[in-house]
Amino acid sequence: MADNRAIGVFDSGLGGLTVVSELLRFLPNEDIVYFGDTGRVPYGTRSKETIRKYALEDEAFLIEKDVKLIIAACGTVSSVAYDTAETLPVPFFEVVSHAAFDAAKTTKNGRIGVLGTAATVNSGMHEKFIKEVLPEAEVTACACSMFVSLVEEGWLADDDIVVLETARRYLKPIIDAKCDTVILGCTHFPVLKGAIKSILGDKVTLIDAGTATAKAVKEFLDENSLNADSEKVAKNRYFVSDKAYSFKKTATVLLGKKIEDEDIKQVSLNNL
Ligand code: DGL
Repeated sequence: MADNRAIGVFDSGLGGLTVVSELLRFLPNEDIVYFGDTGRVPYGTRSKETIRKYALEDEAFLIEKDVKLIIAACGTVSSVAYDTAETLPVPFFEVVSHAAFDAAKTTKNGRIGVLGTAATVNSGMHEKFIKEVLPEAEVTACACSMFVSLVEEGWLADDDIVVLETARRYLKPIIDAKCDTVILGCTHFPVLKGAIKSILGDKVTLIDAGTATAKAVKEFLDENSLNADSEKVAKNRYFVSDKAYSFKKTATVLLGKKIEDEDIKQVSLNNL
C-alpha cells in the first residue's frame, strides 16, 4: 500500500535544500514539507544545548504536518542532536553516517577530509563512522563556519573572489594532509562545490551528504513499502521562520526550479 504522507525535512536555513534537490532526483513522487529555521541560522556556532532545543522544536513542527519520516538535513543537528529523535513517532534520518560510510568506501589513500560547522567538527561523529568501516583512516576535519554565511547571503558563484579566498584559507589543512576524499559535512557546502573543487583540484572526490542520504531514504521506503503513489504529482511546501522573500530567491537557485509564492510560508514556531 502507498503512503502519501510527505517527507519532512529541516535545516537551520537554506542548506537542507541540497538534500531536497537530491530527494527530488531519487524520489520524484514524494511530497516534501521543508522547514528552514532562517530566523535562527546559523546553528553550527551555538552550544549543544541550544542546538538540541532548536532541533526538538523543528521536529515538533514537522510532526504537526503529519509527515511519514523526518530528515535532519543539517550536519550540525545530525552530529550533536541526533538523540532528540529518540522519542519521535516516525523514522528519522541524519546526514552524517551515510556520507561517512561513502567516504570510507571511496578513499584510495585512506586520508579523508571533513568540512563542517564548528559543532559538527568538534563532535567527531564523521570520524567515528568512518572508522567503523576503515579503522586505519586518517581524518582531517576543518570547521568552515563562514561558508554558511556566504550561502545564506547568496554569494554562490564558483569564481566569487570572497568565496575562493575563504575556501583557500579553510582548505589548507586538507591539502597539506593529502586527502583524496572530502566530505561536505554541512548541507550548505555542496552549493560551493565548484569553488571548493577549484582549490582542492580534480583528483579529490567530494562526498555530498544529500546524495548519500537520499539513496538511504529511497532504500528504506522501498523496503518498507512506504512509497507514495507512483501516479501522484508531488507537492512541495516550504516553511521558514524569517525572511521568506530572500529564502525564495536563493532557494530557486539551489533547487534549480521555481517555488510558487503559495508554496512558501513564514511561520512562528511558538504559535503551532
Ligand atoms: N546546514 C547546516 C549543517 O549542515 C547548518 C549550518 C549552520 O546553521 O551553521 O550543519
